[in-house]
Amino acid sequence: MEVVLVTGTAGFIGFHTAKVLLESGYAVIGIDNFCDYYDVRLKEDRHRILEQYPHYTGHRIDICDASRMEAIFEENSVDYIIHLAAQAGVRYSLEKPTLYIQTNALGFGILIDLARRYAVKHFIYASSSSVYGANTRIPFKETDCVEEPLSVYGATKKANELIAYSYSHLFQLPTTGLRFFTVYGPFGRPDMAFFKFTKALFEGTPIDLYNNGDMRRDFTYIDDIVTGILGVLKSIPDKEPPYVIYNIGNTICVPLEQCIDILERATGKKANIRYLPMQDGDMYATYSDITALHNAVGYTPTTSVEEGIPRFVDWYKEYYKIA
Ligand SMILES: NC(=O)c1ccc[n+]([C@@H]2O[C@H](COP(=O)([O-])OP(=O)(O)OC[C@H]3O[C@@H](n4cnc5c(N)ncnc54)[C@H](O)[C@@H]3O)[C@@H](O)[C@H]2O)c1
Repeated sequence: MEVVLVTGTAGFIGFHTAKVLLESGYAVIGIDNFCDYYDVRLKEDRHRILEQYPHYTGHRIDICDASRMEAIFEENSVDYIIHLAAQAGVRYSLEKPTLYIQTNALGFGILIDLARRYAVKHFIYASSSSVYGANTRIPFKETDCVEEPLSVYGATKKANELIAYSYSHLFQLPTTGLRFFTVYGPFGRPDMAFFKFTKALFEGTPIDLYNNGDMRRDFTYIDDIVTGILGVLKSIPDKEPPYVIYNIGNTICVPLEQCIDILERATGKKANIRYLPMQDGDMYATYSDITALHNAVGYTPTTSVEEGIPRFVDWYKEYYKIA
């Protein structure tokens, strides 16, 4: 049985990725520190679900704890790493920039160096659409210039890509970076738009829309993201150096107000919208060109927001016991 070490398994994308890996016949070693950036109950519940699988072993470890991380590699033979643990969220990186640099840059460095020293077959890691920052050419292509991140979060993700390049170049470590575009779905993150909007709709509180409502996002359903991650697992970059970056999005650019219409229909509630100015660090629009990932592994997202948003709302109602 092949062993995949997944970091961030108590988190949104890590949980879903680990679950599908376990259901696909892999053994999974999960790493997460259960940090309290958002409601830890969600993390505990995701973790409890994973623990029901016999080939899942979860560890509460901070990825920045190099010696505890090393012990995991000493005790196990790890075939692949999917590194998803991070301090996520653009806006919070304005408040706590050094936390992002610590977790996302140092933590990443510790993981990729373990991948090198323990000769892992493929190191896959989460980058982000945030690296595109001030880039105005849409849709975003991997070949676009990404020298102007608008947030420290985006800068740490760009730093990951640079470190990965140097490891692929110097040590022939196969690395694949995935630039995720606004992921949503069941067990999603409470700090993200659809979660916050749904909560506000059920609680009858205002929905804050920045840039006076004029914002667009490439919203990508979690199942499509997981399909993409599993798709690249064994697709070792076949070039010199063995390094590749892919966008992984839904290749749409939906106005937030259109999503609120869908959320209103799905919840049966009317939104009370508060229009606010643009926030520092925010991007006006994100929109992925996914040709490269499609050509490499056949990645084709299949879930529209019209389909995905009601599924998210159904989960929300069940989880929070809303009649
Ligand atoms: N969700 C999105 O839309 C999105 C978009 C772009 C990129 N990403 C990236 O994808 C990855 C997963 O994101 P997510 O949405 O699942 O976020 P998440 O916050 O739900 O998951 C991240 C997990 O990492 C854990 N973690 C944080 N610091 C840690 C540390 N020092 N040691 C160990 N574990 C730690 C957290 O407890 C959390 O469970 C992240 O790297 C994120 O930056 C996500």
